[in-house]
Amino acid sequence: MSKQFDVVVIGGGPGGYIAAIRAAQLGFSVACIDEWKNEKGGPAPGGTCTNVGCIPSKALLQSSEHYEHAGHAFAEHGIQVSGLKLDLAQMKKRKDTIVKQNNDGILYLFKKNKVTFFHGRGAFVSAKDGVYEISVTDADNVTAKHVVIATGSNARALPGTPFDEELILSNTGALDINAVPKKLGVIGAGVIGLEMGSVWRRLGSEVTVLEALPTFLGAVDEQIAKEAHKLMSKQGLAINLGVKIGKITTAKKGVTVEYADAAGAEHKAEFDKLIISIGRTPNTIGLNTEAVGLQLDERGFVAVDGDCKTNLPNVWAVGDVVRGPMLAHKAEEEGVAVAERIAGQHGHVNFNTIPWVIYTSPEIAWVGRTEQQLKADGVAYKAGTFPFLANGRARALGDTNGMVKFLADAVTDEILGVHIIGPVASELIAEAVVAMEFKASAEDIARICHAHPSLSEATKEAALAVDKRALNF
Ligand code: FAD
Ligand code: NAI
Repeated sequence: MSKQFDVVVIGGGPGGYIAAIRAAQLGFSVACIDEWKNEKGGPAPGGTCTNVGCIPSKALLQSSEHYEHAGHAFAEHGIQVSGLKLDLAQMKKRKDTIVKQNNDGILYLFKKNKVTFFHGRGAFVSAKDGVYEISVTDADNVTAKHVVIATGSNARALPGTPFDEELILSNTGALDINAVPKKLGVIGAGVIGLEMGSVWRRLGSEVTVLEALPTFLGAVDEQIAKEAHKLMSKQGLAINLGVKIGKITTAKKGVTVEYADAAGAEHKAEFDKLIISIGRTPNTIGLNTEAVGLQLDERGFVAVDGDCKTNLPNVWAVGDVVRGPMLAHKAEEEGVAVAERIAGQHGHVNFNTIPWVIYTSPEIAWVGRTEQQLKADGVAYKAGTFPFLANGRARALGDTNGMVKFLADAVTDEILGVHIIGPVASELIAEAVVAMEFKASAEDIARICHAHPSLSEATKEAALAVDKRALNF
């Protein structure tokens, strides 16, 4: 006997669980199937983001930042700390508690919204007369007219170097190290490499980052990336660009990485642990896509159009398993939009205004196009920057590194991109996203009253700087 639903969502990460809730809000009978297990084998919905991604990484980033501040930054405030000691087990316990709170929160939301949750793997069985049958481990099959695939992504391994999560770590192992490694290697200076490298450096590791590309953070506005490179190097991250990774060997106690540097010189580096963060691959393992003829693209993503429609009628896919940025909020936006499209509404995702945040210290956040993209596109633009050094709140916080940068159309003054490196850039960027969604001009922001003293004044000042009339710099 199979249970019938209007909508079945496979995957309970930010894309899937949000799609399920929104579909239920719209009046559909909805099931969400997720296979993630907690340490006791029980359900742990929330996907990569909740279990081994956004949430635990931000918990450790926060804790490690407190530890670093207690060790160095408090003295400037006249706070003397003695007997400072790291309790890594407690730090990890706190992280795990936060993860569990999020898992439980999603289970509560499913109940509240009457979403039926299945803990197990979902796989296509058949498609007959417009109805899809899906098997669920340890439960009866389910059927539905509409299916949303939200099966996420997995860490990409280097060929020949599988993750063992003891010495060779993906994000999963990187969030679960039991003792601070003396020497930590990181391959890939992307978002995970820099965030996790920062955590362990703050806790005492000597961190070496090995990046294949000759440019640091190539997707980030060049001026901001240059500032980030300078600040992170000063903090002690040894960032090596343009390297070519050779042989990686593991022994009982550590890892040896052979690599050629940008000048071609050969090196042999020894590490206690090695994080490999070179991107992620879409996860369609075990979905049995062949049973229904679901099309994947040449890179293994579920092939979708701009509206998240697959090649099969009423089968949709969202989040990391489809093209576009691998971000939780992008997955959520697509999840909501798909549920609304199923209901015949006009769900919308504006791919031009998806914010990016890197939660290093300082944080880096941006929305829209970079200066180098505008140049490449031949767009005439004006730029305005404002340093946090000239912001009163930043000085009071003792956090004056970085700047806000506005890029606006030279003719219409429409905001084309906003780039921030500095304190709580992750929060400050929201104003820029709103402004760009409403097609605001830099002048619009320049004329809005911002509270004093606040970091957001730097945003207003950068908007004023577009017209060369910053007031405090
Ligand atoms: P996922 O979150 O991967 O969820 C997919 C779920 O589907 C999983 O629970 C999986 O077990 C389940 N599943 C897969 N196949 C099946 C099946 N056949 N049957 C049943 N269940 C199945 N993004 C941000 O926006 N901000 C951040 O700060 C951030 N930090 C990150 C830090 C790290 C270390 C990592 C690794 C990622 C981070 N991300 C961040 C990215 C973010 O985690 C992903 O973009 C997001 O989780 C994608 O959501 P999703 O729903 O598409 O997939
Ligand atoms: P990434 O794409 O951000 O960075 C990977 C880096 O590895 C790149 O700089 C790439 O040039 C480099 N690289 C690739 N192959 C290499 C090789 N063989 N040798 C050396 N360097 C190599 O991928 P990452 O850091 O694994 O993260 C995956 C995704 O997860 C991110 O793109 C992002 O979408 C998401 N994420 C988001 C976060 C956030 O929003 N704050 C935090 C962490 C992850």
